[in-house]
Amino acid sequence: MATTNYLSAISMTMIIFFASYVSTDPDMLQDVCAADFTNDDLIKLNGFLCKKHASSDDFFFSGLSYPRSTDNTFGATPTLITVLNISGLNTLGMAVSRIDFAPGGLNPPHLHPRASEIFFVLEGELEVAFITTDNKLYYKPVKGGELFVLPKGLIHFQINRGNESAVAIAAFNSQFPGIQRVPNALFGSYPDVPNDVLAKTFGIGINQVKKIKSWLDS
Ligand SMILES: *[C@@H]1O[C@H](CO)[C@@H](O)[C@H](O)[C@H]1NC(C)=O
Ligand SMILES: *[C@@H]1O[C@H](CO)[C@@H](O)[C@H](O)[C@H]1NC(C)=O
Repeated sequence: MATTNYLSAISMTMIIFFASYVSTDPDMLQDVCAADFTNDDLIKLNGFLCKKHASSDDFFFSGLSYPRSTDNTFGATPTLITVLNISGLNTLGMAVSRIDFAPGGLNPPHLHPRASEIFFVLEGELEVAFITTDNKLYYKPVKGGELFVLPKGLIHFQINRGNESAVAIAAFNSQFPGIQRVPNALFGSYPDVPNDVLAKTFGIGINQVKKIKSWLDS
């Protein structure tokens, strides 16, 4: 896709995001507050201290302009960009992500504890889904130029059933949405969730638990 199309798609995501903006992070009390990461010995209750002198570069990021390798267990790579990557996002209640999918790639069931998400497909077609707390599945095929809304804290996933790679941009209403992958939380924690707990939870044997753990590591 040409760079201009690509960029206009990104700005469209942003406009849509602002139009539907509902703050979950607290509102800011000043114009800018580029995060000062130097003062590391204090516990931060909500966000970071502000730099005394912010510059344009505090509000700039070029690292979403190229595809990430999808050569991994799931064939999909989320690149989440938060206040830790763009200091100017501090106190603004926003973050962004690029997700690259190989053919057949799956962004496995995960959730963002602090943000809702607008999932905008740039290229390709993805099946996008979330599950509410009463276990209802919302499921939609979403093509390039279309979007799906993923409510805060609910488990969701996307899969590329097409034979070509796909790319999506996601916008979040938190400067630090957090990401928790369900399989990795349960089968890849440190220290481990005890094998017998997982075996009983899923009605499987200890060997199957070990198999899942080593497959997630691969
Ligand atoms: C964003 O910041 C996190 C935390 O510092 C870092 O691990 C990650 O590599 C950064 N991502 C990019 C694309 O620079
Ligand atoms: C993908 O599938 C379509 C329709 O089946 C086919 O025309 C196209 O050649 C395939 N592309 C690749 C890269 O395999």
